[in-house]
Formats: sequence, structure tokens, C-alpha cells
Amino acid sequence: MKTRRSAFRSDLLDGKVGLVTGGHGLGLEACRVLGRHGARVALCSRKEANLQAALQVLRDDGIDAMYGVCDEREFEAVADVVDSVIARFGRPDILVNNAAGNFPAFISDLSSNGFKAVVDIDLRGTFNASKRLMSGGCATTAARWVNITAATQYRGMAMQAHVVSAKAGIDALIRTCAIEWGPAGVRVDVVAPGGMAGTEGVQRITGGDDKFPTDSNPLRRLGSTTEVAQTVLFLVSDAASYITGAVVVDDGGSWLTGRAEF
Ligand code: COA
Repeated sequence: MKTRRSAFRSDLLDGKVGLVTGGHGLGLEACRVLGRHGARVALCSRKEANLQAALQVLRDDGIDAMYGVCDEREFEAVADVVDSVIARFGRPDILVNNAAGNFPAFISDLSSNGFKAVVDIDLRGTFNASKRLMSGGCATTAARWVNITAATQYRGMAMQAHVVSAKAGIDALIRTCAIEWGPAGVRVDVVAPGGMAGTEGVQRITGGDDKFPTDSNPLRRLGSTTEVAQTVLFLVSDAASYITGAVVVDDGGSWLTGRAEF
């Protein structure tokens, strides 16, 4: 679908700094949407080539952006990236924990290490970035942290045991973060997308042809990274000022009716 005009004013995030983990797909689109609404943005991931390409896209869009290379599984590496963002842009007000690993595998073909790799990237990576910001003076009344999971966890999904386990862990972690950090003014929420057209996640699950079934999706289509990024924008905006610890399922209603196997 075509990129839609934003429902929000373009100066919504003026003066804000956003840090997004995961250097392409939804991570890049989240940076673009935050940046188009006035934020300076930093993104980080393991692969510098992806980050360089993303930076070019953002700069071509007139967005003040930077990147840091890190593996979200390594706390010190994440901390170094946060330090570099603070040095260049100042304290991140917005954190989008989006970095994720995914490959389709039945449990019978999934090694313990394969399970661990995805749980470490998704769940422990979310913990690492959130903890670094919490303990680094970034937990202010301006702090808005959004965590990306997947709607598939609410029904279960064949070949995704590692992924749905990691995402369920993030939901649980974020509810506790909301309770512990709410008194400091920090809002922490979850966006649980369904299949998004053109993303690596959908291509990996479908074997590369992007034919994610939509016949039982109430809206009869895949979502877009722009739509999910707009949900992130809503949650970090003052329009969501009394929302914390919430999960916004952003999948066209597919989790109510959709297929759980391919
Ligand atoms: N099927 C089964 N097991 C697989 C697999 C597959 N397609 N791909 C990786 N694994 C297993 C490996 O065999 C290994 O387990 P082992 O040591 O028992 O053999 C384990 O996962 C870790 O593999 P490794 O190659 O060391 O992974 P990594 O730690 O470098 O990277 C991945 C993590 C595997 C998740 C990586 O594929 C990734 O990050 N993918 C891209 C990100 C992505 O898909 N993003 C979209 C998210 S929606």
C-alpha cells in the first residue's frame, strides 16, 4: 500500500532523541517516522552494511541520524552505543526495542542453541537496552519506550516456538518495567505486529515469496511497516500520555481468526 500522510503534526517530536534497535525493515521505518516528526534518531544492529544503507535513506529524507554497531545480546556493546548517542545527540527520550532474529523451524529441528539465539536477541536484547537506559540517567518523565513483539504469540504458530517464546517473555518483562519505572514517569508499551509486507520476517516465514496468507485476516491484507511505525509514534506521543504496560496488537485483527500453520 502507498505511504499515507501522517495523522500527526510534523513537529510532534521536535527536540526528542530516539534510539531504535534493528537496522532495516521496521527498524528503519520507525526511524523514518520518528525523524519525519522532528526527532533526531539513532539506530543500531549487528550489520554495519545495513546501517550504512539505512543512514543514507534517513539523510536523504532530511533526518538527523546516526548509527552504532552492536550485538544486542552483549550488554557492554549496547551500553557503548547508548554512550555514543548521548555524546552526539543527548539522552534518548525514545527507545524502540525492535531487533529480532527469526527463522522457521519445527521444534523437532530446532536445537537448544537455535532456541537460545532468538530468545537472546529478542528478549535479552530488550532487557539490555532498557536496563542500560534505566541505569544511565535516561529514565525521565520524557522517556517513552516501545517494544516490538509479534501477534503470532497469542495463538501459537508452527515453526516459531523460539520466536513466540521470546515475544511472550517481552510482554511479561514490559508489564514489570511499567510497574517499576512508572513512578519515574517512564511509559513502556508493546506493539505486536502481524505480517508486514516486504519484511525479512515475512520472507523468512514464507520461504521468500512474501505470500503470507491473508484469507482469514479480517482486513484481508498484510500490514505495512509504516502502519506499525505510526502506532509506535502514537505510543511515544502525548496522545498516549496515560498508557503504560499496554500491548497494542497491530495485525488487522488476524490474531483473532488467522491461520497458525503453513
Ligand atoms: N533452522 C534451524 N536452526 C537454525 C536455523 C534454521 N534456519 N538458522 C540458525 N539456526 C540455529 C543454528 O544451527 C545454531 O544452532 P546450533 O549451534 O545448534 O547449530 C543457532 O541457530 C545459532 O545460529 P548462528 O548462525 O550462530 O546464529 P546467529 O547467532 O549468528 O544469528 C539468527 C541468529 C540465527 C536468528 C540469525 O539467523 C538472524 O539474526 N537472522 C536475521 C534476522 C531476522 O530474521 N530478522 C527478522 C526478524 S522478524
